[in-house]
Amino acid sequence: MEEPIISVLKETRVFPPSKEFSGKARISSMRQYRELYRKSVEQPEQFWAEQAEQLHWFRKWDSVLRDDQGFFKWFEGGRLNVAYNCLDRHVEAGKGNSIALIWEQENGQATTFTYAKLLEEVSRMANVLKGNGIGKGDRVCIYLPMIPELPISMLACARIGAVHSVIFAGFSSDAVRDRVQDSDAKMVITSDGGFRNGAIVPLKDIVDKAVKECRTVEKVLVVKRCANRVVMKKGRDSWLHDQLSSVRSDGCPAESLHSEDSLFILYTSGTTGKPKGVLHTQAGYLLYASLTFTHVFDIREKDIYWCTADIGWITGHSYTVYGPLANAAAVVMYEGGPSYPRPDRFWKIIEKHKVSVFYTAPTALRALMKQGDDWPDKCNLKSLRLLGTVGEPINPEAWMWYYTVIGRKHCPVVDTWWQTETGGIMITPLPGATPLKPGSATLPFFGIVPGIVKEDGSRAKENEGGYLVIRKPWPGMLRTVWKNPERYKHTYFEQFGVYLTGDSARCDRDGYFWIMGRTDDVIKVAGHRLGTAEVESHLVSHPTVAEAAIVPILDVVKGQALYAFVILKKGNKPSDRLRQDIITHVAEHMGKIARPEKLQFADDLPKTRSGKIMRRILKAIAEGAKDLGNTTTLADPSVVEKLAKGRIA
Ligand code: WT7
Repeated sequence: MEEPIISVLKETRVFPPSKEFSGKARISSMRQYRELYRKSVEQPEQFWAEQAEQLHWFRKWDSVLRDDQGFFKWFEGGRLNVAYNCLDRHVEAGKGNSIALIWEQENGQATTFTYAKLLEEVSRMANVLKGNGIGKGDRVCIYLPMIPELPISMLACARIGAVHSVIFAGFSSDAVRDRVQDSDAKMVITSDGGFRNGAIVPLKDIVDKAVKECRTVEKVLVVKRCANRVVMKKGRDSWLHDQLSSVRSDGCPAESLHSEDSLFILYTSGTTGKPKGVLHTQAGYLLYASLTFTHVFDIREKDIYWCTADIGWITGHSYTVYGPLANAAAVVMYEGGPSYPRPDRFWKIIEKHKVSVFYTAPTALRALMKQGDDWPDKCNLKSLRLLGTVGEPINPEAWMWYYTVIGRKHCPVVDTWWQTETGGIMITPLPGATPLKPGSATLPFFGIVPGIVKEDGSRAKENEGGYLVIRKPWPGMLRTVWKNPERYKHTYFEQFGVYLTGDSARCDRDGYFWIMGRTDDVIKVAGHRLGTAEVESHLVSHPTVAEAAIVPILDVVKGQALYAFVILKKGNKPSDRLRQDIITHVAEHMGKIARPEKLQFADDLPKTRSGKIMRRILKAIAEGAKDLGNTTTLADPSVVEKLAKGRIA
């Protein structure tokens, strides 16, 4: 079992719900939470059926839940449309003039979309998709920066039943290629470029490189954002604005879709080099994203809500797009770099748009905390009433800073644990009920039954670390791994017969969950999920590299960073230049987020007699541990000593 990523301090203080929430929030006492929780797990079908009434259905479901040999089906027989639920029904209810989206550009300008306007844009976009031969079930890859066309494209796909697969715009060409190939996408939507810290990222060029090797792509739609020069391939590429000008914004009815039709694929890293296409479907996903959004953030009519995550990750899917829009919330979306032009950008945006609910990642908080309190202190943050974090364990120091300096001690901090696969928040405080313990994601959401098990499958004792599992299905869960049902079964259900999260955790005497870190070969760098095998494959694709191994090291801002061990092919000599060249190669092919922080050249790696790399030992070496643990099973124990000497501190 892994050690906690960041030291978990002894529980020092418990923070009861503040008077702004206690007795006022939707769930406003522990008693109320416990009662509803009990119902949700004892009579799940009844509970979820009642909750599902809040969605708009073209036809109600016949059964709430069915287990089809380990593949779970929710609300079968039901028909609905996700985009209709996020747009049309609000407009029909008279909320057409309410704010849906406030888009803050990197240059400081802002544009607002009402629900009526967003519906118009989505319908127009959906007509463009249709005009390009996209229909129900077709996959559309979306590789866009944080511009309105990104959520508009997603909702347009949802409107006509196409399956979107958003690829984070920080990924580079090989990562894009792998994801487009696996999804067999017919279309890619991209932009000429994206603004990041004042510079332009040439997204279209990256797509050109990637799509060369993707046979299924027929059309590439290009948003003009930066006016940088791009090459347009005749017959394949077209400018979105040209296409939009020739279609109508009406006459695109929302398709009536089955509850279990595919909504989107989102690739995420796992233990093998190939990322997994996590598949989410219509009804269960939307219901779960929507319900968690209202309860965890206790959203009110007047709230201005901002989640800083890029929409290219699941957090943006569920809590910038689907969860908030299903609730007719006002959502802020920011285009650019978090410290651009200065480290107070986040606080300035909160001040400018009067953000009341703010959701971000611990890594961002640690980075901003390092800049000093002056930046937030000089901004008016009075509009804030609730703070959230997600993506990795938050160390109590960062939690306290968030609570004290940003929240001025009156905003609850909801530390939300969940995953791409879970679709929505799973373990979390509810701000009106749950006493907070800094560093703990606290208690399960309705319908969620987490457990901690030991290697042999038995239940761990109080405070004993073990594998975090989820014992019952929930509506937001992934339905399968795209084109790979065996991998779905194997990765998530084989070991214990219940959903395996890949995280280790402990549960304290109050039933609070403390997430400790991953148990598999997944590393969380600045909250981004990276698979060691995927990064390693981009290292060995460098012409001089014979073999490579990646292990995590601690990083005070990013939580974890990558340490690479590299064996060169015969005839190549280690040098600083080559080291830089290999690191740049990874950044160019996979993306900057996958760039190793440190790279050590090695003659050999510690392997078992059967040839398996012993990562445990590599990790200890990278961390500079005095005790490397048991090395007797190694084929050649002398390897270790040499490696330890060459460690990059
Ligand atoms: C992994 C999932 C959930 C959306 C963003 C990440 C880690 C996530 C927390 C938290 C401790 C957390 C886990 C999890 N994680 N939230 N509050 N405390 N760890 O989604 O990229 O699929 O990553 O992120 O290790 O398994 P993801």
